[in-house]
Amino acid sequence: MASDYDCIPLTRELMNQLWPAFASIDAPFVDGGLLEAWLQEHYMMELVDKWAMSHAVLIGKHVIGYRIVSGHGKRAGYAHSHRTAVDGPYRLQGYARLLLENAQEVGAELGYIGITGLRHPGNDSSLQFLMHTGWKFAGEYINGNELWTLDF
Ligand SMILES: CC(C)(COP(=O)(O)OP(=O)(O)OC[C@H]1O[C@@H](n2cnc3c(N)ncnc32)[C@H](O)[C@@H]1OP(=O)(O)O)[C@@H](O)C(=O)NCCC(=O)NCCS
Repeated sequence: MASDYDCIPLTRELMNQLWPAFASIDAPFVDGGLLEAWLQEHYMMELVDKWAMSHAVLIGKHVIGYRIVSGHGKRAGYAHSHRTAVDGPYRLQGYARLLLENAQEVGAELGYIGITGLRHPGNDSSLQFLMHTGWKFAGEYINGNELWTLDF
């Protein structure tokens, strides 16, 4: 990781400034059919505890990656990770783990018992990430995506 990165909580105002950079990071995966295309309204959607648990990583003003998490869960008591992405040149350097740890820390403080996430079955990088960071496949599918859980 760079020595001068910042991992910052996403406020509504910051999301409004940064979502186009998030959409650029997502673009190759959207084009490949592995992530749904999101518009401004998706990034900006108001969800319980979203502005506490969601974070972005920046180096200076350059956006490296982000994770959007809210309490709009798929399971009682669990927070839900709606989307995580790290820009190509910055992958495999620990930024997605850092974003996860920040969400976990705040989520646990808020009383969530874990976090859920959905994975497209063809998304190999997400499978590797989930397996290396302690998630478990719940054995269920939601709209064709695998449901994964991480207990705090
Ligand atoms: C999945 C994604 C977010 C991972 O981001 P990242 O910053 O590269 O992940 P990290 O560097 O924090 O990796 C954390 C762990 O997962 C492992 N990992 C992550 N991606 C991997 C890959 N493609 N192949 C092998 N291992 C991988 C790392 O080696 C590391 O394990 P370690 O700590 O035991 O060495 C990134 O590949 C991405 O943005 N993909 C496109 C969007 C996407 O698929 N989102 C869904 C995420 S569930």
